[in-house]
Amino acid sequence: MALREIIVIPDTRLKLVSEPVAGVDAEVRRLADDMLETMYEAPGIGLAAIQIAVPKRIVTIDLARKDEPKAPIVLINPEITWTSDELSVYEEGCLSIPEYYEEVERPAKCMVRYLDLEGKTIELMCEGLLATCVQHELDHLNGVLFIDHLSRLKRDRVMKKYSKAAKREATA
Ligand code: NI
Repeated sequence: MALREIIVIPDTRLKLVSEPVAGVDAEVRRLADDMLETMYEAPGIGLAAIQIAVPKRIVTIDLARKDEPKAPIVLINPEITWTSDELSVYEEGCLSIPEYYEEVERPAKCMVRYLDLEGKTIELMCEGLLATCVQHELDHLNGVLFIDHLSRLKRDRVMKKYSKAAKREATA
C-alpha cells in the first residue's frame, strides 16, 4: 500500500470523465488499497480514483465512525440504477476542495450496481449519508464536483478563492 497525493481544484484533471475498468486484477486491487490508505489518512469518508489523478471508475467509501471498526466498500465501474423522488440535504465537503462545506440537495435514496474486488456484481440500496456519499463519488467519475450543484455565484466564488491560493503557492 502507498499513500498518494490528492489533487485539488483548480486542477483540470478533476473535470475528466474516468474510464471503465476492463477487469478486476491485481493492479486494480493495488490501486484500491492505495485509495483506501489515502482516504483514511486524509481523513475522508469517500474517494474517487481521479482524486489521486487516476482516471479510472473506482470509488472507495467508509462511513464507520472513529470508534467503530473499519468498514471499507470498494466500488468498481459503479452505476446508479435508480434514485428516489424524495430528496434530502446534507452538508458536503470534498478532499479535492479542502475546508469548504456547503449544503447540497440530492435524491434521498439510490440503488447502485458495481463490481467488488472479487469481480462479483453487487447491487446496493443506499439511503442517508451513504446515498449522498455514493452520488458525490460517482459524480467525480464524470468530472462533476459537488460545487457544480451549487449556484453559479457560489461556485465562481469558490473557484476564484482556490485559484488565487494555487497561484500564491506557485509563486511562493
Ligand atoms: Ni469529493
